[in-house]
Amino acid sequence: MMRRMKRCCLLVIYNILLIPTLLSQNHYENEMDCFITDLMERMTLREKLGQLNLPSGGDLVTGSVMNGELSDMIRKQEIGGFFNVKGIQKINALQHLAVEESRLKIPLLVGADVIHGYETIFPIPLALSCSWDTLAVERMARISAIEASADGINWTFSPMVDICRDARWGRIAEGSGEDPYLGSLMAKAYVRGYQGNNMQGNDEILACVKHFALYGASESGRDYNVVDMSRLRMYNEYLAPYKAAVDAGVGSVMSSFNIVDGIPATANKWLLTDLLRDEWGFGGLLVTDYNSIAEMSSHGVAPLKEASIRALQAGTDMDMVSCGFLNTLEESLKEGKVTEEQINAACRRVLEAKYKLGLFSDPYKYCDTLRTREKLYTAEHRSSARTIATETFVLLKNDRHLLPLDIKGKIALIGPMADARNNMCGMWSMTCTPSRHGTLLEGIRSAAGDKAEILYAKGSNIYYDAETEKAATGIRPLERGDNRQLLDEALRIAARADVIVAALGECAEMSGESVSRTNLEIPDAQQDLLKALVKTGKPVVLLLFTGRPLVLNWEATNVHSILNVWFGGSETGDAVADVLFGKVAPSGKLTTTFPRSVGQLPLFYNHLNTGRPDPDNRIFNRYASNYLDESNEPLYPFGYGLSYTDFVYSDLQISSETLPKNGELTVSVTVTNKGNYDGYETVQLYLRDIYAEIARPVKELKGFERIFLKSGESRDINFVITENDLKFYNSGLEYIYEPGEFDVMVGSNSRDVQTKRFKVE
Ligand code: NOJ
Repeated sequence: MMRRMKRCCLLVIYNILLIPTLLSQNHYENEMDCFITDLMERMTLREKLGQLNLPSGGDLVTGSVMNGELSDMIRKQEIGGFFNVKGIQKINALQHLAVEESRLKIPLLVGADVIHGYETIFPIPLALSCSWDTLAVERMARISAIEASADGINWTFSPMVDICRDARWGRIAEGSGEDPYLGSLMAKAYVRGYQGNNMQGNDEILACVKHFALYGASESGRDYNVVDMSRLRMYNEYLAPYKAAVDAGVGSVMSSFNIVDGIPATANKWLLTDLLRDEWGFGGLLVTDYNSIAEMSSHGVAPLKEASIRALQAGTDMDMVSCGFLNTLEESLKEGKVTEEQINAACRRVLEAKYKLGLFSDPYKYCDTLRTREKLYTAEHRSSARTIATETFVLLKNDRHLLPLDIKGKIALIGPMADARNNMCGMWSMTCTPSRHGTLLEGIRSAAGDKAEILYAKGSNIYYDAETEKAATGIRPLERGDNRQLLDEALRIAARADVIVAALGECAEMSGESVSRTNLEIPDAQQDLLKALVKTGKPVVLLLFTGRPLVLNWEATNVHSILNVWFGGSETGDAVADVLFGKVAPSGKLTTTFPRSVGQLPLFYNHLNTGRPDPDNRIFNRYASNYLDESNEPLYPFGYGLSYTDFVYSDLQISSETLPKNGELTVSVTVTNKGNYDGYETVQLYLRDIYAEIARPVKELKGFERIFLKSGESRDINFVITENDLKFYNSGLEYIYEPGEFDVMVGSNSRDVQTKRFKVE
């Protein structure tokens, strides 16, 4: 052993002298290798398998932390980490068990779904992406890491980067929408925010990009469903954000529940090893999703023991919840069905993740109770959450500039979301304490002060039917009232008001995991409420709460203004008031298409053309590719979002009509704020390859810039296009561009663009 240690040390010294540029990286890796090799030589097979085991602590911490099932497993070193345990005291105690009462004193990974904040909650990820502000997303991830790490967490199961084009899928709320380019930038921003300076600091944690791969394409928008997709589509349309996270140095990857090419992702060697590790060079930790090794049995692929073999051989390191690795791999090894090298490789990667987090040098790095007291839900974090929330709201309609509202007279705030303290944060917000958050009503009342009277009525239940509502509200139930009485009261309040603000839509748990919908309209009771409010003839603002695109045809025609506020997080009340009363002009732009009908789904802007496109997008045009009863057009396209002010685009220019080989071309446009408010605009650039070997999308986002213009101000915006922007995977999966003609389009959303054509040599 001593001799080997010396060899390692010599190697380290040799490296120090040899290549100064690679010095610190090599030195670090050699030290890590030596350390882990030494440790693994002392581990039994059972202890190694223990490192591959990731149970959900929530189910196992019962009664006293020290005596539960989880603590037994820790003492025996049967787990590599756990998740779903909240609270520094518990986590600290469990980490102490691992470090003081287990044989080899290996510290634990402590995971959690810190998806859009920890105690301070930010808008849901879909909303965050609508800010088009990567720095804001990075800041939110940074704050999430600061707070989670101060409460004992060292590993977050985020970012979720699944491209989704189908609003029926509730998990659309968790990602950055339908575009691979924007999704890739967001993926990198999350990783930078969570991992910071390579997890050196005690407020920097391990990120986990998920769900690898293609989970957002679940058939018919039904959760956990099958995915079947061509390699071309994967490479050109779905894989980029995962790869971007890998390129940004994400430390871990979670495989997805779905099948890929018929094989569950959990055990798909092509996906996990050939693509992720060999082609993309991912060297980090690969964990399954919840129980998904065991679920391979329901997939009809293999029972637990065989599934565990296949998952390990495919490249999986850690088994979340199913205990297949812990309980079956020993026997499989004896039977020669897996090798010790395979187990060792997985174990090494778990240990490496712990090493990179610095847990071996300081197992209590994330157990600093002083930080717990000082870093959670701070004024500074809340202020960031409030500002960021205002950037995510999307103004869908604003007839006759009804918004912003003047703070005067009587304003009626009506709807089941108006005073729903526990429903402001949306899905994946179990780590926060809603009793500390303000409601929308409180935010609006505090902004109005004594300048306006804010009247309130709940107005309706979420659904008429109590059972349906129970399913929809899940862990965040709302007090129900009598359907008739609620409506009557709302109409009485409305009658006294000058303007009505209706706060309704989905409740928090109607989007996220396991909540697919076939009907994407506002739930029945709330729809009737809204219709009754509009019928009063008073101006009505719809503050739309939702975790996914909804079908809003009636609302788009009949309601005067629609501000989509998604789920804005713990500071929703104040943030909505900021925008409602014009302290901040809305600037969010949709990153997901709003359909006119569920029948159009999947619907997305960057689609391929058919041989028979319908140029006018009429409702029904026989023998063109369209529908008998609906146009192909979305209700609100990708990139769409209004402001209180008016941005006018003019003078689109390209520096040359030809992009020379290895050269570049500049596209410029003038944007002028012709309205009365200062505000942000996101200028978007799209490209179209006119002819190529394979059919190419009608447009693809390739650049954008978020700019602030004062009222009356003009600015020239320049985008530089190079060959890189024109590349795609061809039928041989080579990443190339083809000479020929291209359209460049610039505008304020994917529909309203100006176009110029250029040639590529
Ligand atoms: C299942 C979900 O699919 C995944 O996103 C999450 O991270 C795990 N459960 C752990 O909670």
